[in-house]
Amino acid sequence: MAERTEFRIRTATVADAQSIVDAFDSTLPYLASIGSEGQWGLVPFSERPGFLDDMAKSLEQARVWQETHEGDSNIIFAAEVVGPASTEATVPAGFAQIHEDKFSEYLYKQANIQAVDLTKLSNFVFLEVLLVHFGTGYHKGAGTALVQHVKRYGLEKGKDAVYVDCWSGNNRQLVGYYERQGFVTVEDFAFPRENKTPWIGTLLRMDLTKA
Ligand SMILES: CC(C)(COP(=O)(O)OP(=O)(O)OC[C@H]1O[C@@H](n2cnc3c(N)ncnc32)[C@H](O)[C@@H]1OP(=O)(O)O)[C@@H](O)C(=O)NCCC(=O)NCCS
Repeated sequence: MAERTEFRIRTATVADAQSIVDAFDSTLPYLASIGSEGQWGLVPFSERPGFLDDMAKSLEQARVWQETHEGDSNIIFAAEVVGPASTEATVPAGFAQIHEDKFSEYLYKQANIQAVDLTKLSNFVFLEVLLVHFGTGYHKGAGTALVQHVKRYGLEKGKDAVYVDCWSGNNRQLVGYYERQGFVTVEDFAFPRENKTPWIGTLLRMDLTKA
């Protein structure tokens, strides 16, 4: 039986910005290989203007929020493998970004969710970003470990739910992944894009009140 990788999860810092961008880049060949290039496109994130700078700013803003609780709530968790192959090295395995009591702006503005009034929801964690680093060889299961960590974080904070949204194209495979993690679909949505077909997605919810 294959050994299960043990992940250490910590809060990411500005020093992780490049590693996070590398992880984003590493997902694109994987997504293309499963026919999901429509999810995040084909242009490497490292080549998207401002992406690295915005990531560094977001990590800095996260530090300020965690220290002072001023500004938007924002935490990025890093999953890593410590000392693989008997070395002292730490290998990045994945990242998750969360916000408390706040969704991404596009969900409020463009997603046209009917099932719930997002502006009236409170006491939740929103999982905005989840990704593994396909380039380091230790990614398998890092996403699940991060989802479990986010769930524990929500429980410790007394939150009622964790929400996530994801691309629902390519036969809803990613929706299926989140359902296997314990999320339940709230509603499908589509938002328009200039000169492109709409981006289709699904909002999902994990109930923490019965956990
Ligand atoms: C989604 C993700 C975080 C899951 O990581 P994980 O918990 O370590 O998952 P595993 O490696 O155990 O894979 C779980 C299965 O999910 C499926 N899956 C993962 N990402 C998927 C995606 N974007 N679309 C469709 N299916 C996906 C695969 O079928 C995979 O099965 P496989 O082992 O046969 O390849 C990771 O696969 C990833 O980073 N994917 C690309 C980026 C992404 O889609 N992030 C989610 C954005 S909302």
